[in-house]
Amino acid sequence: MTTDRLIIFDTTLRDGEQAPGIALSPDDKVAIAAQLARLKVDVIEAGFAASSPGDFEAVRRIASEVEGPVIASLARTHPDDIDAAAEALEPAARSRIHVFNSTSPIHMEQMLRMTPAEVLASIQEGVARARRYCDDVEFSPQDATRSDPDFVIEACRLAVEAGATTINIPDTVGYALPADFVALMERVYAEVRGDNEDVIISTHCHNDLGLAVANSLSAIQAGARQIEGAINGIGERAGNTSTEEIIMAVRTRQDFFGVEIGADTTEIFETSRLVSRLTGYPIQYNKAVVGRNAFAHESGIHQHGVLRARETYEIMDPESIGHRSMLVLGKHSGRAAFADALDKMGIVLEDVDFQRAFERFKELADRKGEITEEGLRAIIGEETTARYDVAELISIHVEGGSDEVPVATVAISRGGEELHATSSGDGMVNAAFVAIQDALEIPAKLVDYRVSPLTSGADAMAEVNVIIKTGATTYSGRGVSTDVVEGSARAFVAALNKVAADRASSVLGEDR
Ligand code: KIV
Ligand code: ZN
Repeated sequence: MTTDRLIIFDTTLRDGEQAPGIALSPDDKVAIAAQLARLKVDVIEAGFAASSPGDFEAVRRIASEVEGPVIASLARTHPDDIDAAAEALEPAARSRIHVFNSTSPIHMEQMLRMTPAEVLASIQEGVARARRYCDDVEFSPQDATRSDPDFVIEACRLAVEAGATTINIPDTVGYALPADFVALMERVYAEVRGDNEDVIISTHCHNDLGLAVANSLSAIQAGARQIEGAINGIGERAGNTSTEEIIMAVRTRQDFFGVEIGADTTEIFETSRLVSRLTGYPIQYNKAVVGRNAFAHESGIHQHGVLRARETYEIMDPESIGHRSMLVLGKHSGRAAFADALDKMGIVLEDVDFQRAFERFKELADRKGEITEEGLRAIIGEETTARYDVAELISIHVEGGSDEVPVATVAISRGGEELHATSSGDGMVNAAFVAIQDALEIPAKLVDYRVSPLTSGADAMAEVNVIIKTGATTYSGRGVSTDVVEGSARAFVAALNKVAADRASSVLGEDR
């Protein structure tokens, strides 16, 4: 890779997956990695191999099944972490070990309880150990933007001497502003890379102040030639730099940035929807590039302008990110039409998932008449994430209205048995939630609840996204229906299924 090429390093499967409520199975991760390969990102950070057997398996499967991008695993400077990363990455055609340790006073004193000298020694040892396995080693001084810049430079120089080929500067807590971030990046470029063309300077920005993309782009001016991001900007807390926003900013403003990228932008839309579907994280309507409204024009003046010439109010062509004219299926559409629509949407389902999605489509199309592409995507998302498959909602019935306490009765099938429960609650949705918890005997707290209309009209389909919490862990669930209470119930069951799956895997010793 030449240095006027901007390397797109995608960490949806590592930092992105650390977002609360996301629990991707290894199959989900392979599906996302395969899509990232179609998007032609340069590097996929597939996970943190040492963090759990599940992460190890996902990194190893991606390393053996996904072709094209470099496959990376995160590792602390501990020898065990580096050995696990190397072992998981072993099947990859091209691999990278991404070693990190913290350099800020607060992290070193409070979290690591290490002196600066000990941190430097660990960086030297960790990078050198990684280099024994792999020629491509990245080093990140965690919390760089709250560290003493002199110490960051010292740590990065040491990492380069020990064999690191990429130096990534993380704004771990999203504290930086574009101007001070550029100043730090310029120093790193001048004092760590200098004229060593074998070293790439990189950024990894968090979005706590909403500046992740701006900070990352500003670093290109300072010589950065790798940007790390996650699809839809998911990640710890307010998330990461959004990969698709970086790709489209650099393409759209090529005149300004003057760097090449290898991404196939027409895969952006599908990648964004897949990540949303599998993570259960909805995409904000006005999200740049991939939000539902990103290419919608409401005012008459704007509509008139766009009808005359698209460029009057659009700086990007929707087709360039993979937007196509929307498909619509009706209640008479059969299996072949359904399969054809999936094919046009670039969705490939295994037989079991296809059958489940088709049955659910027929059920909803009978009630609603027409199902749009958004609706189809939601149905498929619901059915394919239901592969934890522990429990399935059979029916829900709620009695009582605004002046009576609502009472919900649910029937759920689990492992061949039928479970029933009846509970009252503070509102219809709450009654449904309590009854489902009672039936499944999994207590949880509802921490987030969102209903999004998928289509308009009185018989609109709604997508319900919930986040629930048990102990310190959050889980997401999604449900789709023409009925909000039923959609909510399906979302609760999906989230509680993840709790059950997690409990089963921790009994088997697979917990993080
Ligand atoms: O935000 C951060 O500092 C990270 C590092 C591990 C790169 O995710
Ligand atoms: Zn991060």
